[in-house]
Amino acid sequence: MSNTNKGLEGVVIGQTTISRVAGDAGELIYGGYHIEDLAGNVTFEEVCHLLWYGELPNAAQLHDLRGRLLEGMAVDDAVLDVVRLVAADSHPMAALRTAVSALSAVDPDAEDMSAEAADRKAIRLTAQAITLTAAIERIRTGTDPIAPRADLSLAANLLYMMHGREPDELAERIIDASLTLHAEHGMNASTFSARVTASTLADMHSAVTSAIGTLKGPLHGGANERVMQMLLTIDQPDNAAQWVRDALGRGEKIMGFGHRVYRTVDPRAPILKQLAEQMLDRGGDTRWLRISDVIQTTMREEMDRMGKKIYPNVDFFSASVYYTLGIPMDLFTNLFACARMAGWTAHVKEQLADNRLIRPKAEYVGPVDRTTSPIAQRP
Ligand code: ACO
Repeated sequence: MSNTNKGLEGVVIGQTTISRVAGDAGELIYGGYHIEDLAGNVTFEEVCHLLWYGELPNAAQLHDLRGRLLEGMAVDDAVLDVVRLVAADSHPMAALRTAVSALSAVDPDAEDMSAEAADRKAIRLTAQAITLTAAIERIRTGTDPIAPRADLSLAANLLYMMHGREPDELAERIIDASLTLHAEHGMNASTFSARVTASTLADMHSAVTSAIGTLKGPLHGGANERVMQMLLTIDQPDNAAQWVRDALGRGEKIMGFGHRVYRTVDPRAPILKQLAEQMLDRGGDTRWLRISDVIQTTMREEMDRMGKKIYPNVDFFSASVYYTLGIPMDLFTNLFACARMAGWTAHVKEQLADNRLIRPKAEYVGPVDRTTSPIAQRP
C-alpha cells in the first residue's frame, strides 16, 4: 500500500511561534493574539513587529520600526527600470516577482546571512513590496511612480502611491486591517516555499521570490482576482444561485471557497465582510455584496447537500473590498503579497535560527531495471 501523502495534508513540518491556525475551531492567532483582536485595533506596522520579534511594540519601538520601514520603502532607480521593462506585458504578480528578485542586486545585505542582516532585509522587503506594487500600477498605466511620504502609514502610502492622492481615513483603515488579516497564516503553500528555499541557506531575496511565485496561483493568493471575475460575470444577484449550481454541475470549484486547513468558516472572512459593509454604509455599489450573499447561501445549501465542509475563505470578501476601493482586479494578489511579505520574512528568520534542510521524498512508481539501446533501435 502506498504511504504517500498527496498535498502533504496534515503533515507537520516543524514548530513555529509565529502563528497558530486551528482549522476545526476556525481560529487564527498571531503570536498569542486572536486575529479578531488584532485587525482594526493595532496597525499593520505593529503586526510586523509582533511577527518579527514576538511582541507588540511599545511606543518607542513602534516609532523606531515606522522610521525604518519608511526609510526602507525607497526603491533604487535600477529596479524601477526593471519594472519599466516588464510591467506592460506581465501579470502584476509576475512583475513583482521579477522586481523583488532584482532588489537583491542593489541590497547591501543581499548575501549577508547574519541575523542582523535578515532583520534589515525583512523590514526593507516588506516596505519595498508596497512601493513596487504601486509603481507597477503607475508604470503600466503610463504614469510615473510616486515616492512614499514619510508622514503616512504603510497602508495609506500604498493607496497614495497607487492613486496619486491621499486616501481618506476609512480607506486607510480598511487597507490596514486587510494587510493585518493577510500577513501570516502558518505553513501555507507560499510560506512553505519560502522556508524550503531558506533551508538551503539561499538568501532571503531568493526565499521570498519563491514565495511570490507560489502565491500567484489561483488555488492560493490568485483566488481573489478570480472571485472578482466571478462577481462581474454573474453581474446581478438574481443570476447568482443558478450560476453557482451550473458551475458546480460542471465540476468546477467556486473561487473564494474552501481551505486546506479550515473545516469551518475562515475567521478572516467575516472581518472582511464587515469592512466591506462599512465601506458601503457611506454609499457605493452594494451589488457585489448582494451577489456574494446569494453565492454564500447557495454554496451552503449545495455543500450541506453533498456533505462537504466548504466555507468562504479570506479571498471571498477581499475581492469586493479592493474593487470598491478602486484597485484594479489583477493587482489584488499583489496586495496579498505586500501583507504576506511580513509573514514570509518572519518564517525565513525562524527557519535560519534553527535550520535543517527541508528535503522530503517521493515514492517512485515508474518502471525499473530498463537497459539503454542505441538511438536507431528505439521505437
Ligand atoms: N468549490 C467547490 N467545491 C470545492 C471547493 C470549492 N471552492 N473547494 C473544495 N471543494 C470540494 C473538492 O472538489 C472536494 O470534493 P470531492 O471530495 O468530491 O473531490 C472536496 O470539496 C474537498 O476539497 P479538497 O479538494 O480536498 O480541498 P483541498 O484541501 O485540496 O483544496 C483549496 C483547498 C485548494 C483551497 C480548494 O478549496 C480550492 O480550490 N478553492 C478555490 C480556490 C480558493 O479560493 N483558494 C484560496 C484559498 S485561501 C488562500 O490561499 C488565501
